[in-house]
Amino acid sequence: MIKNMEKDLSNYRKQYDKDALLEENTPENPIEMFRDWFMQAENDDTVHEANAMNIATIGLDGFPKNRMVLLKKFTYEGFIFYTNYQSEKGRAITANSNICLSFFWPALERQIIIKGHAEKLSENSSDGYFESRPDGSKLGAWASEQSAVIPSRTFLDKQLKKFEEKFKNKEIPRPKNWGGYLVRPVSIEFWQGRPNRMHDRIRYRLQKDYNWKKERLAP
Ligand SMILES: Cc1cc2nc3c(=O)[nH]c(=O)nc-3n(C[C@H](O)[C@H](O)[C@H](O)COP(=O)(O)O)c2cc1C
Repeated sequence: MIKNMEKDLSNYRKQYDKDALLEENTPENPIEMFRDWFMQAENDDTVHEANAMNIATIGLDGFPKNRMVLLKKFTYEGFIFYTNYQSEKGRAITANSNICLSFFWPALERQIIIKGHAEKLSENSSDGYFESRPDGSKLGAWASEQSAVIPSRTFLDKQLKKFEEKFKNKEIPRPKNWGGYLVRPVSIEFWQGRPNRMHDRIRYRLQKDYNWKKERLAP
């Protein structure tokens, strides 16, 4: 056993110098800004899973919790992901719909942080997306009571077999506890790494009149 395990990372240091983020190059609507950055991330061969995002919820235990999910759609209304409504995150959102999403694309030296309110998508919209998923993923949604404590891997494999049998040669419907959330943003912050830690940060905040206010933040 290693005693006093310690690894010093104080020399890990990276200079950021790929791009700049200046007010005059930013649109009035942050979703358009998001679209531009997202398209650059998705077109960059070195960015894997550009749509992977971190979501933080305030848990029932009072702790914030982050985990990755996949962004599946964005519109002027907001950002959509899919999950199990009974999962730890689903229960957290039921109690407190305030949520924070973040993206980090190291290759572009960019981070985006979005605060907003999560709401369940309509049953119809969730059905539509569920239908588009491969059968394996559909069965996975049935087999996994997401975030529940389970006895073993074998148990999980058995659950999958059970639902494979149940839906053999049948349409696999969407489990009622599985679906999408739309996150309606109230604040979107764009971060561009710059040399000497003098990074650019532009934050948009939604105003009462539904216009967005743009502000520069100190790095
Ligand atoms: C790259 C990546 C993408 C993921 N995408 C999803 C997703 O779209 N939906 C989902 O429910 N879980 C997704 N997961 C798993 C979640 O991170 C998490 O383990 C799961 O949702 C349970 O979280 P919870 O117990 O906090 O609710 C993904 C994990 C990774 C690493």
